[in-house]
Amino acid sequence: MPKIAASVLNADFSKWKQWLPELESAKVDRIQFDIMDGKYVHNAGVDKKHIRTLRPETKLLFESHLMVRNPEAYVREFAEIGNTLLIFHVETTKAPLRLIETIVDHGMKAGIAINNKNPAKEILPYLGHADLALVMSVEAGLGGQEFNPKALEKISAIRKKIDADGALCEIEVDGGINAGTAKKCVQAGANILVAGTFLFRHPKGVKAAVKELQEAP
Ligand code: DX5
Repeated sequence: MPKIAASVLNADFSKWKQWLPELESAKVDRIQFDIMDGKYVHNAGVDKKHIRTLRPETKLLFESHLMVRNPEAYVREFAEIGNTLLIFHVETTKAPLRLIETIVDHGMKAGIAINNKNPAKEILPYLGHADLALVMSVEAGLGGQEFNPKALEKISAIRKKIDADGALCEIEVDGGINAGTAKKCVQAGANILVAGTFLFRHPKGVKAAVKELQEAP
């Protein structure tokens, strides 16, 4: 059964006291916060004050997805506000290995991401060092986009490399995840699914949506 990461990018934060317990009882594995600098992606993502608000309210794992230039500048603060895992895009740093080490030195797990148009080969050298590889199945920067099936071949290539090397890196997919695409991603080798729109806009509510994704494969 895949782990589910609830992306709160499109959630109504004024209603967190309603949906946070729903996420917990639905047994999501983690909450994902999309952090954007308006430079690497031309949008404003989740405000880090929301991470501070939610941290004391739940034991759920927090991961922040940095869609920013100079991710190195975010490590200390994002460790201090309670992230368990920090994900950066490989194309935003000149020193991915050193950044992974810095993230780990700050007590977090490290995730490395490739954007929709970037080839899988850009992160293959780091799979033995990172705790998680994030494959974007939409263009970073916006929730509610259509899943790009080209992500499936990237997932398979990354899965093949991880298994061949005996690496412990997990594979997470983000963007356009619903019951149909979830099944395809798990079959391709992913074990963590990020979902936002599907969870928070589902007609039967968050809990039913999470269950659909968990049972998809
Ligand atoms: C894009 C974001 C989205 C969000 C989830 O930068 O990372 O992928 O988390 O998107 P949806 O709404 O498609 O689940």
